[in-house]
Amino acid sequence: MPPLRNLVEDAQKALEASIMYYKGQAVGTIAARDRDALALNYDQCFVRDFVSSALVFLTTGREEIVRNFLEITLTLQSQERRMDCFKPGLGLMPASFKVELRGGGEVLIADFGEHAIARVTPIDSCLWWMILLRAYVKATGDLALANHSDFQHGMRLILRLCLETRFDMYPTLLVPDGSFMIDRRMGVYGYPLEIQALFYAALRAAEELLLPNDLDGIHTAVIERLGHLAFHMRSYYWLDMQRLSEIYHYKGEEFGISAVNKFNIYASSIPAWFINWLPDEGGYFAGNIGPSLIDFRFFTLGNLMSVVTSLSTKEQSSNILTLVENRWDDLVGQMPMKICFPAVEDRDWQLFTGFDPKNVPWSYHNGGNWPVLLWFLVAAAVKTGNIQLAENAIKLTELRLGKDLFPEYYDGKNGRLIGKEARRYQTWSIAAFLLSKQLIANPEHLKLITFEEDDRAIACEF
Ligand code: GLC
Repeated sequence: MPPLRNLVEDAQKALEASIMYYKGQAVGTIAARDRDALALNYDQCFVRDFVSSALVFLTTGREEIVRNFLEITLTLQSQERRMDCFKPGLGLMPASFKVELRGGGEVLIADFGEHAIARVTPIDSCLWWMILLRAYVKATGDLALANHSDFQHGMRLILRLCLETRFDMYPTLLVPDGSFMIDRRMGVYGYPLEIQALFYAALRAAEELLLPNDLDGIHTAVIERLGHLAFHMRSYYWLDMQRLSEIYHYKGEEFGISAVNKFNIYASSIPAWFINWLPDEGGYFAGNIGPSLIDFRFFTLGNLMSVVTSLSTKEQSSNILTLVENRWDDLVGQMPMKICFPAVEDRDWQLFTGFDPKNVPWSYHNGGNWPVLLWFLVAAAVKTGNIQLAENAIKLTELRLGKDLFPEYYDGKNGRLIGKEARRYQTWSIAAFLLSKQLIANPEHLKLITFEEDDRAIACEF
């Protein structure tokens, strides 16, 4: 048996050591503290990574760190209307920030992707920020923070960016490649699931947190969009045996409003692996839907966040967990949990990743196993009453995570090898473990991140 108490203590110490300070106050956690690897930007506080740490802090009486984080990231938000293409769009939140000494004082330096590899835009940051603000309010009851005019303004800027300025007419959000946790080219541009699930959660957070005066119509737009988005995701992204059969019999080239095959999906684009892999019981949301496109890959964060936030219906949520159970070796393997399944290989790898040597099949973003995803699995499992599944996943993590020094990711079809270029002491791997233990010990904490079931889905002529 692994020394459990020590593992929790080790993780707590490691999380403590990752805390970043600004003017004497704890404001975030750095991404990784691996002395043997090049820091690159892993010595910065990433907005998406911090959410895992923040939820641990909120469940252990350390709310002030989360409050400080929310306040300083708000000051970093892009708040001016800009026509300069090299400046971040109004409302955007940075991917990460660091504290630097300049002219004898500390300053905060934000990165909106302009320093990141391939200059990717962190669209998920502003969505995570709203989700975290709502979690903070839930944990502390400090509604005054969200009601403050700066916060109301910050939220409205994010919502405008998502609701007003756009090129298309889908209820989903159109984004470039690599705009979320998968921040490299992986064929995840257009309407990737993870962004849609976070968008849905951010809208639900906004619905709760926006003050009722609605002079600009944003509050009404949020509620309307929630209904359309939920309908769109639940109907068009859903994949199970029945949907497979429908898609298999789709006719192409249908014109006009009565088209059944709205996205003009050609049945011959259904990959053979999917037909063989999809179990009789269970289902999941597709990775992406667009013109003549269904990305059949299973993306973990998007699917589990759909369960957690009630973007999926009760029945769909329970089917997603059934799928995880039925495909345990593929999706969980030896380290919960795979970021996406299956990996893209051969010519697909060349085309999707641009020959990316870090994203070779079954490594990193291309089918690697990421310990951070444990807490999403545990949260989804506890929410749907699958306690045993959650416990099994935590047990697997306990076997290796501490011994392997909390790696960022694992490689191989079943996640057996420490990732080739994985950082050790990766903060969100550490935080995910601690948070999972908290969630299972006290499921009350789930309410920080979950939303009530929602049956307001509205069909839209499309
Ligand atoms: C990598 C991951 C990204 C994460 C960052 C910091 O770039 O792809 O999701 O936020 O590292 O940990």
